[in-house]
Amino acid sequence: MIKKLRSDEVHEKVCRRYAEIACSIKDRFKYPTGREGVFMLGYDLLVAGPISEGIIESFCGVGNPFRLGPVCPGETVLDVGCGGGFDVVMARYYTGPEGRVYGIDLVPEMAEKAGRNIVSMGLSHCEIQVAASEAIPFDDHTFDVIISNGAIYLSPLKEKTLREIYRVLKPGGRFQFADVVLHDDLPEKIADCFDGWSG
Ligand SMILES: C[S@@+](CC[C@H](N)C(=O)[O-])C[C@H]1O[C@@H](n2cnc3c(N)ncnc32)[C@H](O)[C@@H]1O
Repeated sequence: MIKKLRSDEVHEKVCRRYAEIACSIKDRFKYPTGREGVFMLGYDLLVAGPISEGIIESFCGVGNPFRLGPVCPGETVLDVGCGGGFDVVMARYYTGPEGRVYGIDLVPEMAEKAGRNIVSMGLSHCEIQVAASEAIPFDDHTFDVIISNGAIYLSPLKEKTLREIYRVLKPGGRFQFADVVLHDDLPEKIADCFDGWSG
């Protein structure tokens, strides 16, 4: 739970930080990103086929949601906090052209980047929207699978985010996500500042 930080403040600061990261990811994370992260997390680029270097380099996820279970041909998938769109592109390879893959991201610069990346790959049935995980712009029971990679920990209203995810998931649908978790409470002076919040 955040104490002094307000949720709109957190959104504003996340937007500022990730707008910069959309321009350049270099030296912005303490864990491997880009091709090194993709390799370490066991993504199967051979299955996926050709992916542009720009999309691979934009990857800043913390895990591999596809290792938690398959995404099948024809399924409808949502990526919450899609960043530059690497997992959207991977999901689209798994669903094939009969499926549909949507990505949402809070940060307009990130969503634009993902959109450009998808257009550059010529992928149909993929769509990116600017939206917060706390207010997902889709009808109830829309998705077979929801994935998320390193985004929910940035939400200041995690219960609301999880309620939204379950609202838009079909009954019996799957939620496959990788994220950052705290093992212990943070000291107050770190918990109450944005750098402590976002890692
Ligand atoms: C660590 S990056 C991971 C990006 C992407 N999933 C990947 O694996 O490359 C976290 C992403 O979550 C987005 N994000 C942060 N808070 C969000 C929120 N409340 N709703 C939607 N997206 C959010 C950020 O803009 C950023 O693109």
